[in-house]
Amino acid sequence: MQLKNIATYSSRTMKLLVVHYLFIISSCYVFNFSYGRNLNPNFRVKAVNLGGWLLTEGWIKPSLFDAIPNNDFLDGTGLQFKSVTVGKYLCAELGGGNIIVANRTAASGWETFKIWRINSTIFNFRVFNKEFVGVDGSGNVVAVENKPGFSETFEIVRNSDDPSRVRIKSTNGFFLQVKTEELVTADHSGGNGGWGDDDPSGSQNPCEHSANRDGTIEWGKTDDTIQQTVEVIEFLTARYAKNPSLYAVELINEPLAPEVTLDMVKKYYQAGYNAVRKHSSTAYVVMSNRLSSDPTELLTFASGLKGSVIDVHYYNLFSRIIDSSIFDNMSVQQNLEFVNTNRSAELNTVTQSNGPLTFVGEWVAEWQVRDATKEDYQMFAQAQLEVFGRATFGWAYWTLKNVNNHWSMEWMIKNGYIKL
Ligand SMILES: *[C@@H]1O[C@H](CO)[C@@H](O)[C@H](O)[C@H]1NC(C)=O
Ligand SMILES: *[C@@H]1O[C@H](CO)[C@@H](O)[C@H](O)[C@H]1NC(C)=O
Ligand SMILES: *[C@@H]1O[C@H](CO)[C@@H](O)[C@H](O)[C@H]1NC(C)=O
Ligand SMILES: *[C@@H]1O[C@H](CO)[C@@H](O)[C@H](O)[C@H]1NC(C)=O
Repeated sequence: MQLKNIATYSSRTMKLLVVHYLFIISSCYVFNFSYGRNLNPNFRVKAVNLGGWLLTEGWIKPSLFDAIPNNDFLDGTGLQFKSVTVGKYLCAELGGGNIIVANRTAASGWETFKIWRINSTIFNFRVFNKEFVGVDGSGNVVAVENKPGFSETFEIVRNSDDPSRVRIKSTNGFFLQVKTEELVTADHSGGNGGWGDDDPSGSQNPCEHSANRDGTIEWGKTDDTIQQTVEVIEFLTARYAKNPSLYAVELINEPLAPEVTLDMVKKYYQAGYNAVRKHSSTAYVVMSNRLSSDPTELLTFASGLKGSVIDVHYYNLFSRIIDSSIFDNMSVQQNLEFVNTNRSAELNTVTQSNGPLTFVGEWVAEWQVRDATKEDYQMFAQAQLEVFGRATFGWAYWTLKNVNNHWSMEWMIKNGYIKL
């Protein structure tokens, strides 16, 4: 079969970010405070995110991935298969829950199979409606199972002369074949059990930086997913609670509305908060606003929780609330005005006198302006430092190191673009 590798979901267009492991840059006296710290900070955090460190993102350091065999077949890559016999694309009929056919002349959603990588040659294929491709009792190729098991596991055998030519081998030892445009078969599957892979906790948004496997959001859909995350938070807090350098714990990063509901997020934040408080009365508890939602929706809830902090992320590149294309043709001056006027106003609405503290947990001095000078960048960074410096908890840059210079705070400081 002829293969077309469409962009992986983990492309560079999705840069909103990650797990919050922060270096605190300017808070020397955090370390003197230790246990006696009270929950009214008299300084504001200036920090940097350790992007790409514990959770890799391809765009931050692409060379990390060079040595991986078949590195164009990583989790989440969408593949489209054209039958050499009939010259048409494989398709999950009706998007899934049905048979696999080979009667489409063009390929889009139903003809795209997202891979879950077991190893460099063994994969599961997930279809549009989220079922997995498998072989049924009659040896027909179908997409009906919600979890991948033995019958949903396939080997991709690439032609060494032309890696876009592939054969797909079922776990029964036989290859898939297109008998007719309406009938794709493999021989009856003999075995069971075993190599399936599972992703029990799910992700809170579709992006690679949330360790999402194929773009599906499952976190927060069941109490189970929440419970697992609470256990992780409790484990980490218990481990570091006595360490004087533990300053704050962020419960989760960027859950996406409306898939992750406000009710579930609040339920989780309450449970996560309690888990932190079991072990520490002084660690701040940081709660990420949901992406695509009203930035004030958590204020009443969080006001009742001592030492809580609301985390907002501001990029003049993308936004899930306003149309991101507004940034496309903005001039230097318009970018500065947007920071000074619009971001400033937005931050003001979240920063309320009796409410939780506020944290601009991600920002960067990068934009869409072409041919900007060093001075332009300096002004842009400075404007953001001033406005985000008004957040009552502080700010954190995205990110410490990055092959893209402006996304590397280390590079920006060393080269005089950012002065603290
Ligand atoms: C991939 O996994 C299969 C099944 O466990 C195994 O037979 C095969 O040797 C593995 N291939 C590589 C390259 O590790
Ligand atoms: C492809 O085959 C399925 C199953 O027979 C049929 O329902 C569908 O209409 C066909 N689609 C096209 C575009 O021929
Ligand atoms: C930005 O400018 C380009 C080139 O002038 C134009 O094609 C594009 O439509 C503009 N985008 C927006 C969002 O205005
Ligand atoms: C920014 O704020 C100004 C002043 O309130 C407003 O006129 C403008 O529409 C806002 N811009 C965007 C892109 O929201």
